[in-house]
Amino acid sequence: MLHGGDYNPDQWLNYPEVLAQDLELMEKAKTNTFSLGIFAWSTLEPEEGVFHFDWLDKIIADIHAMGSNIILATPSGARPAWLSQKYPEVLRTNERREKQLHGGRHNHCFSSPVYREKTAIINKKLAERYGDHPALLMWHISNEYSGDCHCDYCQENFRSWLKNKYQTLEALNEAWWGPFWSHTYSDWSQVESPSSLGETMVHGLNLDWKRFVTDQTIDFYQHEIKDIRRLTPDIPITTNFMADTNDLIPFQSLDYGKFAQHVDVISWDCYPAWHNDWGTTADLASKVGFINDQYRSLKQQPFLIMESTPSGVNWHDVNKTKRPGMHLLSSMQFIAHGSDSNLYFQWRKSRGSSEKFHGAVVDHDNSEENRVFQDVAEVGRGLERIKAVKGSYKNSKVGIIFDWANNWALEDAQNFSQQSKRYCQTLQEHYRSFWNADIPVEVITPNADLMKYDLIIAPMLYLIEEATMDKLTDFVEQGGQLVTTYLTGYVNETDLAYLNGWPEKLQRLFGITVKETDTLYPKDHNQLDYLGESYVVQDYCSIIQLQGGQSLGSYTQDFYAQQPAVTKHSLGDGIAYFIGARTKQDFLTDFYGSLIEELSLSNQWIVKGHPDVSVQSRNSEAESYYFVMNFSEENQVIEVAKESTDLLTGERVGTLIELKPYGVKVLQP
Ligand code: GAL
Repeated sequence: MLHGGDYNPDQWLNYPEVLAQDLELMEKAKTNTFSLGIFAWSTLEPEEGVFHFDWLDKIIADIHAMGSNIILATPSGARPAWLSQKYPEVLRTNERREKQLHGGRHNHCFSSPVYREKTAIINKKLAERYGDHPALLMWHISNEYSGDCHCDYCQENFRSWLKNKYQTLEALNEAWWGPFWSHTYSDWSQVESPSSLGETMVHGLNLDWKRFVTDQTIDFYQHEIKDIRRLTPDIPITTNFMADTNDLIPFQSLDYGKFAQHVDVISWDCYPAWHNDWGTTADLASKVGFINDQYRSLKQQPFLIMESTPSGVNWHDVNKTKRPGMHLLSSMQFIAHGSDSNLYFQWRKSRGSSEKFHGAVVDHDNSEENRVFQDVAEVGRGLERIKAVKGSYKNSKVGIIFDWANNWALEDAQNFSQQSKRYCQTLQEHYRSFWNADIPVEVITPNADLMKYDLIIAPMLYLIEEATMDKLTDFVEQGGQLVTTYLTGYVNETDLAYLNGWPEKLQRLFGITVKETDTLYPKDHNQLDYLGESYVVQDYCSIIQLQGGQSLGSYTQDFYAQQPAVTKHSLGDGIAYFIGARTKQDFLTDFYGSLIEELSLSNQWIVKGHPDVSVQSRNSEAESYYFVMNFSEENQVIEVAKESTDLLTGERVGTLIELKPYGVKVLQP
């Protein structure tokens, strides 16, 4: 189990006593792995072609001597000033076509030939020098790739990408619905990236630009790893992914489903705003669970937490520190969902600049006595005790589909309500019903193999390719159960609306057709009567006509009162459900409650659970490990089927499990 994090000794080379203390403190904090060199380019190559590796040689040797590992970064996330000054083409151009100035980070052009040349040189030198070092565990390529560049090189690459995709301008004009507002192109050179100063209304263009940005970022990454892969074929390669917003929804700007295919291990940086004032601890914990499940599922293998904070961050609206108990609990949650690490940003708080107050293992007080350091050491001891969990996976029979292209197209759609689309949040609400019931879920893309699941949940597939419709149909015909919802089945892969009503393939699959979608104001409500209960309906109501499907529940109000709101259709050996309206969590809990029973999905280990106590297991062939986590501020008791041992403490635990606020146990029956 990896424990440690981003270490920036390059900031402390003038403080040899600090570097010496670091080594002592690392042992005391029970750490074993450090990511080095992420932002060290100006120290590694202070002048063009002049390389200084001695300092890094020594740090790596010292870490190795302690028996610890290094994760070595390529430094492209931030570049030295000489590089921007001499070759301004490396600077990013924003969508208003303004060249950015030197400063900040994560702001280089992915197409720039000079940037590619310079990164190739330094990356190769790192691989040649450290590739055989016994401490080298993994490569950390760049840092948090993100953003786009609109310079001439990128425009040219975008056009080539489009030519490759569409072959002819006629095909592109057709796919993008050219004549709308006279947007037909007569020459490839007229095609430009979307900008608020010009094109943003051509939805096909917007969508293809986002796809191109993902491909171009992956292309840059491929360029970065070319020599590294050749020189160190046995060292795994990763780059750190992210999530969006303080309460964690899937990352918006790159298609990680695609990117995941190019990394050996998924790693990501997780910074939930614990103890916030907008939701309960369990609300946030379930969202953290969702994203971790997504990163496990994308490669169907354990992943790594590359960054997290031992206390607070410096960039949330309010930078609250973790309450006692939360660090161990939140660290164990990562492991429970499939991580084989908890690594931090950062080992030692920097002394200057914008991150000088960001949480770190070692604070400016340099003390091993303070609460945060002690919390970290406790996690280190815990990880040592549960190391048997490493490498084990999670068995799951439920898959939720998240699709990046769908998210982009839906965000762009000028229809419905901009405030209430909430695609990502809606998926997380569906997920919540399973999280509350301690049933493991995978979060997958439409490209995943669906056949390993009993239940597929695919809400709001506004953009859906015909191939996906076929795949979902196969899944149902072969015995799977499928749930989709309102706002499904509007546009194809280039964002063109389906003609002649709701797509025929969906009609056949769900045994219904959707005639209209009513969008409600925030204060509007309808009601859904479903199996004898009444539920509030908000935001969206599909007006449905049955075509062989069966109504399970209907609206009670408005001009579509008594018409179906939830339907069920048997097809082949399986069943397809359509939830026509957005409900609150109460309906989802009851609806999925019946499916959980019918499909025997419930967690057999739990006799009596609690919604705020999350139980997640990791399974190897021989063993199951149960993480029991209290995401509430109260004592809780749950009941389980078997006695077990708490690996964190070595204590025997009976079938009644008592947990303090933020308490956690890792149980082996
Ligand atoms: C990450 C980044 C780190 C550090 C951290 C602060 O996004 O990769 O370098 O800035 O945020 O939370």
